[in-house]
Amino acid sequence: MNPLLRWAGSKRKLLHELRELAPHSYKRYIEPFAGSAVLFFDLLPSKAVLGDLNAEVIATYLSVRDDPLDVARHLYSIPQTRDAYYLMRQLDPTGLSNSQRAARLIFLMKSCFNGVYRTNRSGVFNVPLGNRFFTLPSVSALESASEALQKVELITGDFSASIATASDGDFVYLDPPYSDSTRFRGEYSYQGAFQCADLERLIDTCKIISGKGAKVLLSFKECDSVCDSLPDWKIKRLDVSRSVAGFAGSRRSAREVLVYNY
Ligand SMILES: C[S@@+](CC[C@H](N)C(=O)[O-])C[C@H]1O[C@@H](n2cnc3c(N)ncnc32)[C@H](O)[C@@H]1O
Repeated sequence: MNPLLRWAGSKRKLLHELRELAPHSYKRYIEPFAGSAVLFFDLLPSKAVLGDLNAEVIATYLSVRDDPLDVARHLYSIPQTRDAYYLMRQLDPTGLSNSQRAARLIFLMKSCFNGVYRTNRSGVFNVPLGNRFFTLPSVSALESASEALQKVELITGDFSASIATASDGDFVYLDPPYSDSTRFRGEYSYQGAFQCADLERLIDTCKIISGKGAKVLLSFKECDSVCDSLPDWKIKRLDVSRSVAGFAGSRRSAREVLVYNY
């Protein structure tokens, strides 16, 4: 199944490798950095936890889960025009109904520059219109997503909240933003953007849940700190061409690693 959201940093290009590496059986699927949740929508696990620091992402999944037809009604009422884009962009999502809030995010991400989610310091989405309007999800895609999300626990907040639920036999897929570096700074610019200290926290947490018996798969840009910090884990290195930040207009080839403990 295709994801609902267009999302810079999505692992669409690595889906084949991720699918191959995912364990064949597990109790629950846990994805604490969900974004467009490409792997979740591909595996369609029967029990799952999806988390994200971005409240708009989780609010969208909640609304689609609970009322896909109402989300569709609002989504298709938004004209695919420049004026509508900037009107939607300046709305305060917390003042909208659940369905309007979801429709707004789906529309903005399908229309914005490079599918980048970026906000100003006050948390207001500020990405300009992209060069075309991508096709919106169909009613049946929204209904299928709703079905896939029925048995999913949705958590807004830092990864620590959703990871805390991991235990023996769970599969945890971790796809954090690249941590702060001059080259990739700005990929997720909003309050609480992922920093080096967050990466250290994440690695410590990986060790804890691994000790509890969870199967953990971490995708990240290739860097010594991650691989050296998990010396007993397996590593698969991949070359991927990806769009970063967007605002330098850059599409670069980057080396990514998949690090896993099973
Ligand atoms: C690389 S994207 C994940 C992409 C996802 N795998 C996909 O297929 O679309 C990283 C996600 O982590 C979220 N995020 C950033 N910092 C976070 C944090 N401290 N805790 C939880 N989520 C965070 C971002 O909002 C973003 O959606």
